[in-house]
Amino acid sequence: MKTIQIQTGSKQYNVYVGNHALLQLSKIIENMKPAVSNILLISDETVASFHLDEVKNTLQLEKDVFSFVIPSGEKEKSFENYYAVQTFALEKGLDRHSLIIALGGGMIGDLAGFVAATFMRGIRFVQVPTTLLAHDSAVGGKVAINHPLGKNMIGAFHQPEAVIYHTPFLNSLPEKEWRSGFAEVIKHSFIGDVELYHWLREEVKTLTDLRDDKLIYTLQRAIPVKAKIVAEDETEKGVRAYLNFGHTLGHALEKEMGYGNITHGDGVAIGMLFAIFLSEQIYEKDLQYREIKRWFTAYGYPNMPSKLDVNRLVQVMKQDKKANGGTIRMVLMQEIGVVDVVSISDETVRMALEAFQREEESI
Ligand SMILES: NC(=O)c1ccc[n+]([C@@H]2O[C@H](COP(=O)([O-])OP(=O)(O)OC[C@H]3O[C@@H](n4cnc5c(N)ncnc54)[C@H](O)[C@@H]3O)[C@@H](O)[C@H]2O)c1
Ligand SMILES: [Zn+2]
Repeated sequence: MKTIQIQTGSKQYNVYVGNHALLQLSKIIENMKPAVSNILLISDETVASFHLDEVKNTLQLEKDVFSFVIPSGEKEKSFENYYAVQTFALEKGLDRHSLIIALGGGMIGDLAGFVAATFMRGIRFVQVPTTLLAHDSAVGGKVAINHPLGKNMIGAFHQPEAVIYHTPFLNSLPEKEWRSGFAEVIKHSFIGDVELYHWLREEVKTLTDLRDDKLIYTLQRAIPVKAKIVAEDETEKGVRAYLNFGHTLGHALEKEMGYGNITHGDGVAIGMLFAIFLSEQIYEKDLQYREIKRWFTAYGYPNMPSKLDVNRLVQVMKQDKKANGGTIRMVLMQEIGVVDVVSISDETVRMALEAFQREEESI
């Protein structure tokens, strides 16, 4: 088992990664000070059907353990479910010394984390991620729920006490979720670990290579990229923006195509390719766009949809939370492993998007 230390201005905690990571859970809870009074496990229906019993069975503690299971899917990261969990927690007598365990992917991690951040002004929580994508979402302390008017619009910064990445839980993950999470792994290599990038190209030819030791190694390299950025910038004032690589167009695609019609990672993969395509033009250098495009295609990432209206995409990109006073700010790549945030005019983005659409069709 590997242990990765996460240091933020407000807290230090460990991420345990490996085949037996779940064994840490009870130990960590027993050692918490002040002592944990009782526990609320939060999960979604799919994850619960595979893994809830195992987690409950490892919790050999003299404490009440309650569980609350919500339906699966991004639309369940809602105010209604947030409120329902709070009601359940109050009914079951949770108090300021209770602990929340989030068992699931980013949806559950964000929702359960936001419950923990706000229940009685904030109680402790532990993340038990079950998706590859959650190597990103479980680290960093951003927790939130969605509003019908926008994703992640209501949230907080609340760091977990620990993250238990029990890798066997990922065995039940469907292929499209592997691909979605892998886009964030690639992102972490692009923005901060060129060695990881070369290793992935050599060692992960298909998504089924992401098992056992290779999965553990991948997590062990990708998580510190995020952790390092978060340590420097816990509340998102500067370098944390690098994590948005591929996300300006990615988010716009998710919004325009409708959430659920494209996974987050597929959107980010297209967004990263566009960022590389544009970076080649702006920095006038070869960043291996074509080669990287072929590499992405081999994993099954889709092409840029040719039917989407470029003007609308530009409008949506301007409304992105990370845009600055209506100017599109994109993370561009200077070289693999090195990125920067750049303001770009609408016209430049529009022309580049048109060229990108044509280019993607021609490959
Ligand atoms: N807080 C952050 O910093 C941060 C960063 C990135 C993404 N996010 C959030 O993360 C969410 C996306 O995360 P996600 O992709 O993990 O989504 P998710 O939690 O919805 O999981 C995707 C699907 O996989 C299923 N699933 C999860 N684990 C499984 C398993 N082990 N076996 C079988 N099925 C399983 C889920 O039921 C769901 O249907 C979004 O809400 C996004 O906003 C947050
Ligand atoms: Zn993302």
